[in-house]
Amino acid sequence: MTDSYKIIDHKYDIVVVGAGGAGLRATFGMAAKGLKTACITKVFPTRSHTVAAQGGMSASLGNMGPDDWRWHMYDTIKGSDWLGDQDAIEYMCREAVPAVIELEHQGVPFSRTEEGKIYQRPFGGMTTNYGEGTAQRTCAAADRTGHAILHTLYQQSLKHEAEFFIEYFALDLIMDDGVCRGVMAINLEDGTIHRFRGHQVVLATGGFGRSYFSATSAHTCTGDGNGMVLRAGLPLQDMEFTQFHPTGIYGSGCLITEGVRGEGGYLTNSEGERFMERYAPSAKDLASRDVVSRSMTMEIREGRGVGENKDHIHLHLEHLGPAVINERLPGIAESAEIFAGVDVTKEPIPVIPTVHYNMGGIQTNYHGQVVTLKDGDPDAVVEGLMAIGEAACVSVHGANRLGSNSLLDLIVFGRAAANFCSENMKPDAPHKTLKDAGDECLARLDKIRYNKGNTPTAKIRDNMQRTMQNDAAVFRTGETLKEGMDKMAEIWQSFSDVKVEDKSLVWNTDLIETLELENLLGSAVTSIHSAYNRQESRGAHAREDFPDRDDENWMKHTLSSLDDKGNVSFEYRPVHMYTLTDEVDVFPPKKRVY
Ligand code: FUM
Repeated sequence: MTDSYKIIDHKYDIVVVGAGGAGLRATFGMAAKGLKTACITKVFPTRSHTVAAQGGMSASLGNMGPDDWRWHMYDTIKGSDWLGDQDAIEYMCREAVPAVIELEHQGVPFSRTEEGKIYQRPFGGMTTNYGEGTAQRTCAAADRTGHAILHTLYQQSLKHEAEFFIEYFALDLIMDDGVCRGVMAINLEDGTIHRFRGHQVVLATGGFGRSYFSATSAHTCTGDGNGMVLRAGLPLQDMEFTQFHPTGIYGSGCLITEGVRGEGGYLTNSEGERFMERYAPSAKDLASRDVVSRSMTMEIREGRGVGENKDHIHLHLEHLGPAVINERLPGIAESAEIFAGVDVTKEPIPVIPTVHYNMGGIQTNYHGQVVTLKDGDPDAVVEGLMAIGEAACVSVHGANRLGSNSLLDLIVFGRAAANFCSENMKPDAPHKTLKDAGDECLARLDKIRYNKGNTPTAKIRDNMQRTMQNDAAVFRTGETLKEGMDKMAEIWQSFSDVKVEDKSLVWNTDLIETLELENLLGSAVTSIHSAYNRQESRGAHAREDFPDRDDENWMKHTLSSLDDKGNVSFEYRPVHMYTLTDEVDVFPPKKRVY
């Protein structure tokens, strides 16, 4: 098979796949430490989805009032509905402070307080003194924080001479007896095939939001790393936990940052009522996202939605005035104008809970090393393979992520992966000689390219997205999930009838979208099966038929594996209820908040 395609070989110490916040932080960190580092990315780095992150990055700097990383840790564990691994959460919240200061020194243009310190805004679920007050913990560059971070990290990567392979699509991992030895990729421009050998492959490929019909995620968020991992025979973790952001613009799904509510914005129903006061009397509109999304959905279900069809909610920021809006929220004023035709200084924005983030993904430890359950060891390292960012499940977000902990996760674990590699690897070590490396991957590519089917990629994708949207929604029941699973089984089958019209290899978007669809299908199927399997409600997973959290039976991570017929099987990993140091107590589970 390798004879039918032109293959170009490359050898690096490290190969990073993906150039969002996590991928670039890892890339430049590794290159800066003298490791020969390649970064493969399917879009130009500064167009990666991190560019869309608006509200900010959490870190207990204490610039706007007292703060402590232990309070941040408590909030994150509570926000995770006690499914987050506490060692990793301790690491993330403690390292948040140096990580953000480093970003400042690297050139991120954060907004400033009067005294010139990094400006921090309140975000949902972020509290002081273990839940007593509201923390202003989210470091912001107006409402374009992701944009600011991404540009800085790309510049730093270029400065440290990392090598970029831009508009290259990663196809499959090169696995050799359970060890990852590299990755195969196709150059979108000319169709050449590239075999990248690396002593570590770092997957920073983002989430799979596009398995749903309406998502804040870019169209490029197709779970490519997840697909590669599943095909390598490794499981994914906690795929049932999908976060709905309360404020996607009604109709387009475009994100309106939680920073709006952080700056004093609020939600109302058709009666003009600030209904969050009923659902979460103390946190109100700044309750965690799962709580706000469920409350909005209940209002709509009970007939108090706004608009002709009473199917959405209003988000107000008119009262903030043009000065605050122009200084702190200029981007969302523009988005609301473009996508909803709304002047935010005069009228509310129509919003609806919209798929935003995947808590589940490739299981790792807090160094970024991929781990798996092997011979009874739930944390056995998969040599040569790392994962970071939304592609990974560390798990610091457990069943529900707090807003602004995502940019933090990208930076802290991109940095952790770079630190781990620089401490444990020597540059220029020789690569093991392999026979037929990448052959299987090319057979898969060839099969899809020349498949004698009749169903267009777009049709299969549309079926998948609508099924996920309807049957794996904010509220789920065994019945809707089962219906969705059955439909997904048919959709999986229909992929064997996929038709790629364009057989060429030059800028073949038809072929690439089909490969992306195959990756999405893997994530969608494991996600809906995992949701059916977990018979409790926890975090973002709200089962109406099992409304309570069940710590006795379900305080564990789900590991889902997929075979080539679309069958899903499960194993489990215990939650890490221990911390790294004795500077914090292990936080025991508390009652679930609805
Ligand atoms: O609302 C937002 O600005 C999104 C932030 C996040 O998901 O962390």
